[in-house]
Amino acid sequence: MKRIIEQIEAELKKAFTEAGYDEKFAKATVSNRPDLCEYQCNGAMAAAKTYKKAPIMIANDVVERLQDSEVFEAIEAVNPGFINIKIKKEYLAGYLNEMLADDKLSVEEAKEPKTIVIDYGGPNVAKPLHVGHLRSAIIGESIKRMGRFLGHKVIGDVHLGDWGLQMGLIITELSKRQPDLVYFDENYEGEYPKEAPFTVSELEEIYPTASGKSKEDEAYKSEALEATLQLQQGRRGYRALWQHIMEVSVADLKKNYAKLKVDFDLWKGEADADAYIPDMVQYLKDNGYAYVDQGALVVDVKEETDTKEIPPCMILKSDGASLYNTTDLATIVQRMEDFHPDEIIYVVDKRQELHFVQVFRCAKKAKMVDQGTKLSFVGFGTMNGKDGKPFKTREGGVMRLERLIAEINEEMYKKIVENRSVKDENAEHTAQLVGLSAIKYGDLSNQASKDYIFDIDRFTSFEGNTGPYILYTIVRIKSILSRYAEEGKNPEEGSIHGAVSESEKALMLELSRFNSIIEPAFEEKAPHRICSYIYDLANAFNSFYHNTRILAEEDNEKQKSWIRLLMLTEKVLETCIDLLGFDAPERM
Ligand code: ARG
Repeated sequence: MKRIIEQIEAELKKAFTEAGYDEKFAKATVSNRPDLCEYQCNGAMAAAKTYKKAPIMIANDVVERLQDSEVFEAIEAVNPGFINIKIKKEYLAGYLNEMLADDKLSVEEAKEPKTIVIDYGGPNVAKPLHVGHLRSAIIGESIKRMGRFLGHKVIGDVHLGDWGLQMGLIITELSKRQPDLVYFDENYEGEYPKEAPFTVSELEEIYPTASGKSKEDEAYKSEALEATLQLQQGRRGYRALWQHIMEVSVADLKKNYAKLKVDFDLWKGEADADAYIPDMVQYLKDNGYAYVDQGALVVDVKEETDTKEIPPCMILKSDGASLYNTTDLATIVQRMEDFHPDEIIYVVDKRQELHFVQVFRCAKKAKMVDQGTKLSFVGFGTMNGKDGKPFKTREGGVMRLERLIAEINEEMYKKIVENRSVKDENAEHTAQLVGLSAIKYGDLSNQASKDYIFDIDRFTSFEGNTGPYILYTIVRIKSILSRYAEEGKNPEEGSIHGAVSESEKALMLELSRFNSIIEPAFEEKAPHRICSYIYDLANAFNSFYHNTRILAEEDNEKQKSWIRLLMLTEKVLETCIDLLGFDAPERM
């Protein structure tokens, strides 16, 4: 179904044309003076120059022809030439009834679905997940869901950091602690044990210890670098250890992402790209894209229009080792082979922007992707604490994701139990759902590229622009609907008809805008647009709710219409929070 704004414009176009004006002037917008009208058209002002006429005359010509419109309740020309519009309630009601009957709530799926790979999460194996990885996971998951809702084929890839120095560090530290393990015996030819020689908590202690040592001890560091190189070159025992580190670490990561309701189709990583590197390097050399500069292999990526220096993209270091650029480029080769995507989206800290500029330019220049393949970087800002500095624990350490989630859930649990007169077995589960909404909405309601302040008190509040407020609104609707059903009435019956009050009309108008929100939000990769929409919608609902005695209404038809309106509001809100990546509980 057409968006409501398109319907309005279709009406205006007819009138502009009939009156002898170009239909390109028939543009409508949501009114910025809701006290005067609901939509407005400023086209007569723009047309005045072309037709050398007073704008008000043009506006009058247009308005005159729309007095009997099915869409408009009132349309008038006001000085100096604005056209003010109010929508007919019957029309609006019809629009909403159609929406309610449609699974997709009148959102049209893409006519030409795209294949899109989205690279998000990006955790580093064997290092604990920290809040820096939270944003990527939350934002990426939402963009993925939006794309799917619009009918695109979206493949989420976690792109593990599993090939770097941290692996060499762990191997080195293990070789000190347990030098007798078969993994370190170069002459060993048998099978390696199935069981890892460490647990996840040991692993979490080994890495920081090793990392600390390497900073103080040069010899230790070179050992770790050497171990990394040998691992990458395929030393058997190291590969076997690497496999163990992966198994133990990935199982733990999966558990943590599940808590966040974030899930990936692919669990690939930098290591998977390794196999593509030799051919890629050869290709870059053979085709004259890459050249040797001071021993290193590089590709120039600067462009004439650059206003700042973009250094060459380094493919191999002088010792032949590959770099972050190399694995990202090889991963592009791999993704092109596997999926032939129309677009690859990277959701990564905006401080890595230069890296992606280099990688994207190199991939395009060397024709590693098709001309039409879009490479998009969604760079996000830092999550700061109340002091405006990167978020830390109360003791000043790096905040681990698990701990952050636990703290929020505890806070939520307290609030929920306070609200209860009877013991609620579900309180803990509810606290988890509401806690997740607090974290995700708190993040997603900000424009991704901006830094934001993670304020637990504000994010967990049931009032204001927060996740819990949105959930509270949904729960309120659910409770009205179930009380209605308990009276033996069927909420599936009846239809929405005209608005009786202003707050009802305002709610209806807000609902009718749903299908104008989703597509642009996806195109701009901007979940915050969905947040601001549902905040407006929740507010519109709550003021309608406070003005209307729904369950006490004696006029059956009126009551049915309201119930249908509630059903639609709930559906829209639930769909939106699903796109944001969280769920509502049954009660709060
Ligand atoms: N593992 C990286 C980090 O923690 C993020 C990976 C982002 N994705 C990519 N394709 N480079 O910084």
